[in-house]
Amino acid sequence: MIAQHGSRPISSFDDIAYQTSINPAHSTTYSVGETLTECPETGDLLDICYDWNKVPVPSSLREFEARWGTRRNPLDFSGVWRFRELLPFAPEDQVVTIGEGQTILQQANDVAKYVGVDSGNLYLQYEGLNPSGSFKDNGMTAATTHARMVGAKVAACASTGNTSASLAIYASTTGLLRVVVFVGSGKIAYGKLSQALDYGALTLQIEGDFDDALKQVVDVCREANIYLCNSVNPFRLEGQKSIMYRVLEGLNWEVPDWIVVPGGNLGNSSAFGKAFIELKELGLIDRIPRLAVINAAGANTLYQLYEQGVRWNGGSPDRDKIDTFYREMDEQNRRANTLASAIEINRPVNLLKCLRALEACDGVVREVNDAEVLDGKAIVGAGGFGCEPASGASVAGARLLRQQGVIAPSDRVVCILTGHQLKDPSATVGYHSPESDAALREKLAKAGVHDSAHKNSPVAVPNDFKRIMDAINRID
Ligand SMILES: Cc1ncc(COP(=O)(O)O)c(C=O)c1O
Repeated sequence: MIAQHGSRPISSFDDIAYQTSINPAHSTTYSVGETLTECPETGDLLDICYDWNKVPVPSSLREFEARWGTRRNPLDFSGVWRFRELLPFAPEDQVVTIGEGQTILQQANDVAKYVGVDSGNLYLQYEGLNPSGSFKDNGMTAATTHARMVGAKVAACASTGNTSASLAIYASTTGLLRVVVFVGSGKIAYGKLSQALDYGALTLQIEGDFDDALKQVVDVCREANIYLCNSVNPFRLEGQKSIMYRVLEGLNWEVPDWIVVPGGNLGNSSAFGKAFIELKELGLIDRIPRLAVINAAGANTLYQLYEQGVRWNGGSPDRDKIDTFYREMDEQNRRANTLASAIEINRPVNLLKCLRALEACDGVVREVNDAEVLDGKAIVGAGGFGCEPASGASVAGARLLRQQGVIAPSDRVVCILTGHQLKDPSATVGYHSPESDAALREKLAKAGVHDSAHKNSPVAVPNDFKRIMDAINRID
């Protein structure tokens, strides 16, 4: 039973967990006590791997339910650490948790209708319900735990907004770290910027975009020995695996047919693939769902490369094609541009891990334009708890895949909503009330959003009781 395993802390982690290159041709391993963001030999991304024979993994996922009864233990309360046997790299007394992962899987029939699947078959996974309002907290609890394990005192990240909010809240609530966040200037939604400022992070606004900020933070962290919390940090992705555990839990441990997720730096899709590969290997699921990664059309590196036929290819992706793509991107000065600012990324750092996930999950990649993204977001708002623009891409992508006949009406589909509705109020108000703000209207028009198909505009009424009643009586 899991309760017994849970009460027996795992003591020797070097024995159980290690880091290794994702390149299957290289088998050198590194201790989890090392702080690495790439393989020192190959420069490739790193995975956290486990000797599962030494881990007390339960024989059924259902056994994790025993932890619902012991929620006073912060590790059992956490939606990440109550699955700790599936990410066993940290001693329990080192875990940094602020109650992340109390998220909901909602069956959303109005959204099902919009997407075109049978009623009862469309689910929304609300990661915006995390403490900082986005899925990032699943990863940040794991990264800050590792930072604590290695004795880091200062941490940093580059961000389109949510990573900085998440890192900043972990630092402010625990007092364990000082934090520096790098954001592109004018590239971050105010809801997110306000969080980094309020939580006390040193916030550097770099002249440039996310990719510029990321390049700088990587160099700064190396030079100043600062702990890097972007998703090149393999521990972050260990935490993000738990989103899939909770999806399965929400479905009474049944595997859905599709997971649909927006793609930015591709950390989530990579983590989801790793979660399913491991669960299958451990015999905890009998099949792997299909994965759909949805790019914004204005930030579509993965989509373009996938269309060109770039695949994981068992660990031998066509690196020349990828290099050529990036070289031409730079030569032509092509820069990502989308209203879904969270996924406005040119060079997704987890590209290869995502390709691996797509291979394991028989995946597909699609792009949707900003109008489709905002329509998807409006439909979620009208039929559920709402989400930020990037998350709308998953609903828009599911709809597109249904229209293309890739998703069947009888398929069970889970769309991941990565960020909270309040993160980017300008985009929401601009969509519903385009006449209210000329600058916003221009931004929407530039993004190709000329008419908001699902808008719910405010109604201006005089300060007059009768006229107010007239307006209310017009409701049908
Ligand atoms: C709201 C939101 N959705 C999606 C993404 C993209 O996630 P990933 O980088 O894991 O692809 C981000 C990343 O910042 C985000 O903040």
